[in-house]
Amino acid sequence: MTAPVRTSAVRRAQAQAQAGDVLPADHPLTSGVTAESPLLVEYRGGRDAAGDPARPGRRPVWFMRQAGRSLPEYRALREGTSMLDACLDPEMAAEITLQPVRRHDVDAAIFFSDIVIPLRLAGIDVEIVPNVGPVLAHPVRTRADVEALPQLDDDAFAPITEAVARTVEQLGSTPLIGFAGAPFTLAAYMVEGRPSRDHLGPRTMMHADPETWDALASWAADVSGRFMRAQLMAGASAAQLFDSWAGSLGRDDYAAHVQKHSAAAFSHVAGLGAPLIHFGTGTGEILDLMKEAGADVVGIDYRVNLAEATRRLGAQTPLQGNIDPALLTADWDVLEAHVRDVVAAGSGAAGHVLNLGHGVPPSTDPEVLTRVVSLIHSISPAEIEPTRA
Ligand code: CP3
Repeated sequence: MTAPVRTSAVRRAQAQAQAGDVLPADHPLTSGVTAESPLLVEYRGGRDAAGDPARPGRRPVWFMRQAGRSLPEYRALREGTSMLDACLDPEMAAEITLQPVRRHDVDAAIFFSDIVIPLRLAGIDVEIVPNVGPVLAHPVRTRADVEALPQLDDDAFAPITEAVARTVEQLGSTPLIGFAGAPFTLAAYMVEGRPSRDHLGPRTMMHADPETWDALASWAADVSGRFMRAQLMAGASAAQLFDSWAGSLGRDDYAAHVQKHSAAAFSHVAGLGAPLIHFGTGTGEILDLMKEAGADVVGIDYRVNLAEATRRLGAQTPLQGNIDPALLTADWDVLEAHVRDVVAAGSGAAGHVLNLGHGVPPSTDPEVLTRVVSLIHSISPAEIEPTRA
């Protein structure tokens, strides 16, 4: 099923991850294997690797949560293995990452892992409870709790590095996207100890005890930044920071208590030449601040029209999004019209990568996703050109 991995390549990637500030010479982006892929061209705002204006071979699309429960082959492979154990089994993680690429012909793979993996690797007792989400045995609520947080050793990333190396070896010219949770979203799980709707715990802490909040968010930024860096060094060609719950924050709170920590996470992967994407839900009021945190590309959820996102961010900012996941179960005519609207709304941005406005719902019929991909690929990239400056 999966080809044997060259362990020397894995070891080299691990050594680089600890040492250098550039991607390794045999990295798919550096060596040119993924550099001119439609995804990378659009993430650069319609530019080739040399920085000259370029048109992608086709309009790129991938889906958040494209790997996972919507796929019968995923459900079969995961049978009897817990979510986090699957993430830490390099062969299984690589295979799950590749499944949606084979099935849907999407323009990117997203690494199969989870935002709480760095916590698990640091030795924190965390599980993903089916149909609930991440649950911690010991929530992190006081200064003493934060001070007792373990150090995360770089060697702990070995299963991640190995899974990424195995994956990119089989992906060829299709880029792999690495990711991590943004400090606010990760800290929200740590403080609450489980998913919550309003994230009252972390939002109280940043006002009531800002020093403890800053210490916790700094810890989260460090582990998430290093998690992204490990994936990039091992072969990912881009990285996305997920601040899924940032939309629960007011703009002032984001600016004062959160943005600097997301910037710290991005600082671990800045300057490598790999595009960095920043995504959250309900973030219409803070899109500019999310870009300023260090993103090249801003992911837009389904609530903000892409033409409006361009008005808020400027035409030079490449966008990613924002097909409404709710429409995946509508009649095809309704879904097709919506996809065409999203393509048109995104055409004013320097670059546009199609995606959903949040993850694939587990109940989605995978055949619908395949059909959406082929619809997007059938819309000529030449149609992008006239609206670009
Ligand atoms: O295709 C992909 O996007 C795969 C990789 C991926 C997963 N989680 C796999 C996963 C990514 C990028 C994530 C990120 C993640 N994890 C986020 C940010 C993105 C978002 O959805 O907003 C968040 C908030 C988490 C935390 C988390 N992990 C939640 C809320 C859940 C859902 C719990 C449930 O059962 O409903 C998970 C579990 C999870 N992560 C699954 C997958 C495929 C489902 C586990 C299963 O198969 O049972």
